[in-house]
Amino acid sequence: MQKAVEAALVEAMLRVKPRAVFGFATGSTPIALYRRLAERHRAGKVSFRDAASFNLDEYLGITPDNPQSYRAYMQREFFDQVDIDPANTHLPECPPGEDPQRIGPRYETMIRDAGGIDLQVLGIGHNGHIGFNEPSSSLVSRTRVKTLTPRTLEANSRLFEDGEYQPRLAITMGIATIMEARRILLLATGDAKATAVAGLVEGPVTAMCPASALQLHERVTVLLDEAAAAQLRYREYYDLANRENRALKDRFGDFYAAD
Ligand code: GLP
Repeated sequence: MQKAVEAALVEAMLRVKPRAVFGFATGSTPIALYRRLAERHRAGKVSFRDAASFNLDEYLGITPDNPQSYRAYMQREFFDQVDIDPANTHLPECPPGEDPQRIGPRYETMIRDAGGIDLQVLGIGHNGHIGFNEPSSSLVSRTRVKTLTPRTLEANSRLFEDGEYQPRLAITMGIATIMEARRILLLATGDAKATAVAGLVEGPVTAMCPASALQLHERVTVLLDEAAAAQLRYREYYDLANRENRALKDRFGDFYAAD
């Protein structure tokens, strides 16, 4: 997967709509995208000055200044590297002492008031989760508290030191929240993601692979490396369709022209 392609999709959105609202993801996968966008920003090629963002999820039980928080990740990996207005960056954070059950409905209202998400960036968990919508999540769920599965805790434990507190709960956009984004860009790399990717693209639509709900979305771009694509049965067809789509875009304009 070339990080230039992912970044180009973000940049194309900003060209069409400088006030675009982005949905951002955390995890290791989007880091290459954020670095590329930061480079392009330093080179004066892209600006987030008028953009806004809503992150998918945040841990519950750690404060934003904890380096393990997704707020800290976003500041470090992206927000501090570009010119986005900090006041326009949002995560479903629960301040200490507040009822976490109230955060979700408030977050949904904030997204709606901002005009909805134009482009949602997604990674995918080994078990097919998107955001922290674990298998068995309702396909019409909204932003809410989720208990993380042992598999997710185990996958993410690599990021925590021995003895460091690892949250077991998170607040995540729901699947219905994600599905309302106008466009979705899902990134996956590595063979550990191949089964989840096959479930996403070719499996049945099922709450047991939350990403499979994206089959019901009109505009999803899935960018994979070879390893993550390894279990796709229709791989040859996708390559063929990509070539045809590229030829059409070369003739008639780019990704966002139809909006
Ligand atoms: C995490 C996040 C997801 C992310 C996924 C994959 O738990 N909540 O938003 O997409 O797991 O993470 P990674 O990109 O590190 O494999």
